[in-house]
Parts: sequence; structure tokens; C-alpha cells
Amino acid sequence: MPTNRTKGLLTDIGTEELAHWEIVGTMIYRLLKNVPPEQLRQVDLGGHFAEHDRAVYPVDASGVPWTAAYVQATGDPVTDLHEDMAAEQKARTTYEHLIRLTDDPGVKDTLRFLREREVVHFQRFGEALNEVQEELTRKKVF
Ligand SMILES: [Fe+2]
Repeated sequence: MPTNRTKGLLTDIGTEELAHWEIVGTMIYRLLKNVPPEQLRQVDLGGHFAEHDRAVYPVDASGVPWTAAYVQATGDPVTDLHEDMAAEQKARTTYEHLIRLTDDPGVKDTLRFLREREVVHFQRFGEALNEVQEELTRKKVF
């Protein structure tokens, strides 16, 4: 990022995202902790149990493991901020789908909190994009 403020913003959001990952992992761990294997099989988690027991193992809804290849960075701050904004919108949408898939009030509350943070991240990335575009178009005199 070309400005100190946007560098700090990305650090803040990145740090918060790691905390969100921890929240989601903890929630899933607690939900699965005492579920018998037969019940896990009945809800299509038999494969997960066979390979990971109840360990938190990051996969998408189709069971595809998370990979660092999902992290995009071109080195162009304008392009990367657009990517970040799209990622926040995709996360918001996924949280909304997850909220519709559960009837557990605690899980819904947690997902609503995480959804709201994605909205804030989208807005903050938008502010960063404006700042970066201003910085990159500003006439520089040396
Ligand atoms: Fe986010």
C-alpha cells in the first residue's frame, strides 16, 4: 500500500480476519465436540470424522481444503483492493447463507456479528481504495 494509513488498515483487517477464523473454528469445534460418529455420518460429516475426527480442519462447504492459493495479491494496490472488497462481499453473502442454514440462536448471533464485520471491512477497503487512487494520481514534485 502506498500510504501509511492504508498499510495500517490492511494490518488491522488482516489481524481481525485471523481472529474471525479462530471464532469460526471454536464454534465448529464446540458444535461437534460431543456428537457421536453415527450422527456425524448422518449429516455428511462421516468423511471429515474419518480423516480428522472432530479436529478443526479448514475446508469449504464442499470439503475442499483451504489453501494459500486463495489469497490473491498482484502487487497493484488498486487491483488488490478491488479483490479485497470482492472477498468481503463474498464473505458477507456466505455468512447470510450460513445464517439461513441454522436454527441455533448462538450460532446465528455469532454469524451475524461476523457478517457485520465483513460489511465494515468492505467499507474500510473502499475508503482505502479512494485514498490510494488519490495518492497515485496526485502530482508529485521533487
Ligand atoms: Fe472481512
